[in-house]
Amino acid sequence: MSSKPDEKGINQWLHVDQFPENLKKYWFQRFKIWEQYDKGIWMTEDAWFGVTPEPIANKIAAHIAESAPKEKTIIVDAFAGVGGNAIALARSGRWDSVFAIEKDAKTLKCAKHNAEIYGVSSKIFWLNADCFEAVNRFAGNKNVVIFASPPWGGTEYGVDNVFDLTNMEPYNLDKLYKSFTKYSNEVVLYLPRNSDLNQIARYGQEGKKLEVAHYAIMGASKALCVYFGDFKFDEEAQEP
Ligand SMILES: C[S@@+](CC[C@H](N)C(=O)[O-])C[C@H]1O[C@@H](n2cnc3c(N)ncnc32)[C@H](O)[C@@H]1O
Repeated sequence: MSSKPDEKGINQWLHVDQFPENLKKYWFQRFKIWEQYDKGIWMTEDAWFGVTPEPIANKIAAHIAESAPKEKTIIVDAFAGVGGNAIALARSGRWDSVFAIEKDAKTLKCAKHNAEIYGVSSKIFWLNADCFEAVNRFAGNKNVVIFASPPWGGTEYGVDNVFDLTNMEPYNLDKLYKSFTKYSNEVVLYLPRNSDLNQIARYGQEGKKLEVAHYAIMGASKALCVYFGDFKFDEEAQEP
């Protein structure tokens, strides 16, 4: 088993009786979220709400790998959290460099540790920083793709109502789009499953398709990704 955390707020819950009562539903989903959970995954309490489950993170990583322009060699995970996506992106083997940016130091510690469990920690450049400042380092670099799974400003999303991306907290769609497309033509945003598609469509380019993919787990959409830029999906090869 991997090392135990030695800092308050970083947890390695291995028994249900240690697990916070208000998060209990996540205990039952832990292996859906991390296949290697029992190897000693570290989590903060908040991270349970936002972590991308491993099968979805792997699918997204595969989709980005196959569709991004071939000359792109660097991928940036702007909101790395506890590492769900960054680990999958590194494991895809598609990228010369993977950068993971996270502004909360404890959360980043979890991500690094979790990446060690998956054998990819040394393949990721870890940045404890605000992503809107840290992306500056990629100015003028044409080889970068940015993946961003921002906070969505809450934990409950109705099935029927449409999620207003102009009011997403703390960063709305416009802020995310403008901040990241300044540094890369290819930007993937991971957004609520019921996001307003009309609001997204406003950022499409004349005459070009804007790809939106839903990612499901246990028969229900968990989230969607919008692929801005020159991603080329082989439509014939796409699963039904
Ligand atoms: C939805 S979570 C990301 C989850 C991640 N994809 C995973 O699988 O673990 C959003 C993360 O963004 C971080 N964050 C929020 N604002 C940030 C900023 N300006 N720069 C960098 N990280 C930020 C939060 O601390 C949180 O960990």
